[in-house]
Amino acid sequence: MKTITEPFRVKVVEPIKMTTRAERETYLKEAAYNLFLLKAENVIIDLLTDSGTAAMSAQQWSALMRGDESYAGSKSFYRFEEVVNDIFGFKQVIPMHQGRAAERILFSVMCRKGSVVPNNTHFDTTRANVEYLGAEAVDLPIPEFYQPAVKHPFKGNMDTEGLEQLITRVGPERIPLVMLTVTNNSGGGQPVSLANIREVKAICSRYGLPLYLDACRFAENAYFIKLREAGYADKSVKEIAREMFSLADGCTMSAKKDGLANIGGFLCTNDDQLAQQEKDLLILTEGFPTYGGLAGRDLEAIAVGLEEVLHEDYLHYRFASIRYLGEHIARAGVPIIQPPGGHAIYIDAKAMLPQIPPLQYPGQALAVELYREAGIRSCEIGTVMHPEHSETGAETPSAMELVRLAIPHRVYTQSHIDYVVEAILAVYERRASINGYRIVSQPKFLRHFTARFQPISEFINLESERNHHGEPILLHN
Ligand SMILES: Cc1ncc(COP(=O)(O)O)c(C=O)c1O
Repeated sequence: MKTITEPFRVKVVEPIKMTTRAERETYLKEAAYNLFLLKAENVIIDLLTDSGTAAMSAQQWSALMRGDESYAGSKSFYRFEEVVNDIFGFKQVIPMHQGRAAERILFSVMCRKGSVVPNNTHFDTTRANVEYLGAEAVDLPIPEFYQPAVKHPFKGNMDTEGLEQLITRVGPERIPLVMLTVTNNSGGGQPVSLANIREVKAICSRYGLPLYLDACRFAENAYFIKLREAGYADKSVKEIAREMFSLADGCTMSAKKDGLANIGGFLCTNDDQLAQQEKDLLILTEGFPTYGGLAGRDLEAIAVGLEEVLHEDYLHYRFASIRYLGEHIARAGVPIIQPPGGHAIYIDAKAMLPQIPPLQYPGQALAVELYREAGIRSCEIGTVMHPEHSETGAETPSAMELVRLAIPHRVYTQSHIDYVVEAILAVYERRASINGYRIVSQPKFLRHFTARFQPISEFINLESERNHHGEPILLHN
């Protein structure tokens, strides 16, 4: 059968409020053109993230009722631990309220000022947690990563030569750990091959460095390996995941992605001494080590979700639906990161809107336009999210200007995907008339969440008005 069909049926529905273009214009102004500041009820299709947005299954909802809310040693923890052990196979499993808590605790224990952490590509919270400790986060993707149109089966791979050069340049003593993000979210949801994980592991072993996986989308990564890497077609996704983790010394995990849960995460390690330090810190800031800031029922939902995400019928459908979205817009000329990723489609806003200079944020402009057109919320991954700075401290553009359309697990149907295709094509038709933005206020860290924007067209009007009246009426950064 060619038709893409959801391998699940609907038991509970959540109405979507339909909005008009005029209403969306008002909401955009109220949110200062930052889609994170919109009220979710004013979004028709929410593709901001696949994180924590999954629809839970009947099995997960019933598991919630089993939640044991004992403060210490709850049955729910041991059920959760058993499932995590079965798939991930590390000696120590420490629950966390979400991925960034695992990152903060891991780096607080392992890094200090002057440390250097290599990763294929740090996710924004991972980078921020490394930098917050005065350490340096170094991205080492393969060169194809920076070429959106170039197809590569494992575009998430780490540049192993670059890793070796970095280790010899800064010295292994400054590198407390090496990380691999699977799949590589910041660069298109692209997978890392087992061959690459093995090569990175061999380099780490040579220099005595531990290897950690940022495992948020481990099931999607394992399914890509099954589909694309020689020798894995007949292995189950679970077997492949186990092989991935067998090469690592630990992992951070946000269960809000491939845990199919609305909240939760964990930190794993094979190092008992390190685990003790991590648990001590956990007690200080998150909670007792058998709940780690989560309710017992959350641990139950994660335990079921981790098993469900490995169902190959589900992964087959998910990839087919995301590929359908990518192929339908790419066929009409919309530039996307090729090939389509495991959880999202990434539009190359720099290629689509060449008239907008990078420091007028083409990705932000495109994300705003998709909302204006059809109430679709997406996420800029470009200079707004990852600003670079020159030696003088001036802002410089990021290497890529992307708009991510992340597909929440089991939430939208194929007709929603058709709606998204139609909206993107409508915006593409009028792309030449789209203008950029400037930032009028921003926080010091992770600015994309709360920065406020102003359309450049308004700025220019204000500027000319000021010149005309001679009055300073502009907002300042
Ligand atoms: C690759 C990656 N690592 C870490 C995180 C952080 O996880 P959390 O949002 O649960 O803190 C995310 C979240 O999107 C992610 O995509």
